[in-house]
Parts: sequence; structure tokens; C-alpha cells
Amino acid sequence: MGFKEQIDLNRLPSHIAIIMDGNGRWAKKQGKLRVFGHQNGVAAVRDTVEAGAELGVKFMTLYAFSTENWNRPKLEVNALMELLINTIHKETKTLMDNNIRLNAIGDLESLPGRCHKNLLEAIKKTDANNRMTLTLALSYSARWEITHAIKNIAADVKAGKISPDHINDSLLEKYLSTAGIPDPELLIRTSGEYRISNFLLWQIAYSEFYFTSKLWPDFRREDLYEAIVNYQNRDRRFGGVNESTATGHA
Ligand code: IPE
Ligand code: IPE
Ligand code: MG
Repeated sequence: MGFKEQIDLNRLPSHIAIIMDGNGRWAKKQGKLRVFGHQNGVAAVRDTVEAGAELGVKFMTLYAFSTENWNRPKLEVNALMELLINTIHKETKTLMDNNIRLNAIGDLESLPGRCHKNLLEAIKKTDANNRMTLTLALSYSARWEITHAIKNIAADVKAGKISPDHINDSLLEKYLSTAGIPDPELLIRTSGEYRISNFLLWQIAYSEFYFTSKLWPDFRREDLYEAIVNYQNRDRRFGGVNESTATGHA
């Protein structure tokens, strides 16, 4: 039986977040420039997102470019930005055909002007789509996001809009760029690295992590299905006790 047939559609994760890693190593293995790996990562994005939407996953969030990625060689950063502009442009039709709404989180103002503009246009164009929300994390880092949220909370306290007594989990969430999006139940990272690299630190408090050695350009829908099946076989306890699986003394 394939992985897809093993998925229980009634217990799908509503939100899957993915750290798409390994493009550079994928290219290097073939004696090519890192940029070649990024270019080939687009097919993985298309297949994975389409498969998620077809299954009925409501939210997918992809880590596409981190705050720290600005430190890469200028040539690579420029190529990534160029790729982003072209991909958004080309794939807007795919998003429309699949009824997917595009969203973005991160320090979007720091993106090159044309990139920012294309992104906002695609977000606007897909705004009424409602099968899935696809969020791209661009120039994103969780520490940036949380710091930004705290600054805005402080400003609102200063302006008398909220009182410090009102600051709690749910208020902080409203100031994050993921406001209105449920926390990811499943976080996938490709390329065999076991780290979070400053992604969604607040939101993954109780996420299930799935690591695969596949490099991102090789990741396809079958890999997504496998990750979902793996997730569905886990026992999520949230700090409590699951009566059906608990063992030991009564
Ligand atoms: C992930 O692939 C894509 C981005 C971070 C933009 P990498 O470029 O990090 O590839 P590796 O990890 O060096 O192989
Ligand atoms: C994380 O990958 C960021 C993205 C996938 C966009 P990196 O390749 O930048 O992370 P590190 O450097 O291995 O931690
Ligand atoms: Mg990497």
C-alpha cells in the first residue's frame, strides 16, 4: 500500500510547515553551482503544495529565505531574489487554478523593490482563494518576528491601547505575523539537518518534527504523504496523559 492510501483524511494536520533545505548540496553533488539547486527546488515546491491542497491541508508555510541568508554571497542572494520574482510571476496561474491563497511573512520591506511588488501583487490576486493558504517565509526569522511583536505591544501599551495586564499567550499571537493561522501540527525539514534555524519558534511549541535526509529538490508528494503517515502514528500528549496509550501504575 502506498503512503497516500494510509493517510487518514479525518486527522490531517491543518497546517504543515516546511524547512526546505539542501538545494546547494543537491547542486554540488552534480558539480553544478548552488543556484542550480535553488532552480530545481521550484518543482518540489509545486508538487508538494499541490499535493497538500489536494489532500485538504488548509495551511502550508514554507521557509524560503531566512534573515541569516542575507549573509550568503551576493551572487547567490541576487539569484535567489531573481528566482523568487520569476517563480511568483509564473506560478500565480497555478495558485489560481488550485484555488490557493498566497501569503508572506518576514521583513518583506527588506526585499528588493521588484520582488516586494510582485509578491504583493500575487497576494492581492489570490486573496479570494480559499482551498489553502500558502505562506512564504521570506527574509524571515522567528527572533525577528517575536522582537517585532514585542515592539508593537510596547507601543500599544505606551499609547494606552492595551494594559500590561492584558498581555498573555493569545494577545502575543495576535501581534505575530502568523496571526489567524493555527500553529503547525507538523514541521518537516529536509536535507538531514536536525535544527530549526530560527523558524517559527513560538508557533512550534507542540509541533511534531519530521526530518528526512532527502535534499529539497528531490522532495515530492510521496515524501509529503510519508511524513503525514508518520505524523498520524504519533501520540500527541501536550503535557497531559493519553488514557488509551498510558501505561504504568493506576
Ligand atoms: C535551502 O537550501 C534554500 C535556502 C536556504 C534559500 P540551501 O541553499 O541551504 O542548501 P544547502 O543546505 O547549502 O545544501
Ligand atoms: C534554513 O536553511 C533556511 C531556509 C531553508 C530558508 P539554512 O540552510 O539557511 O539553515 P542552516 O544554515 O543550515 O542552519
Ligand atoms: Mg541549507
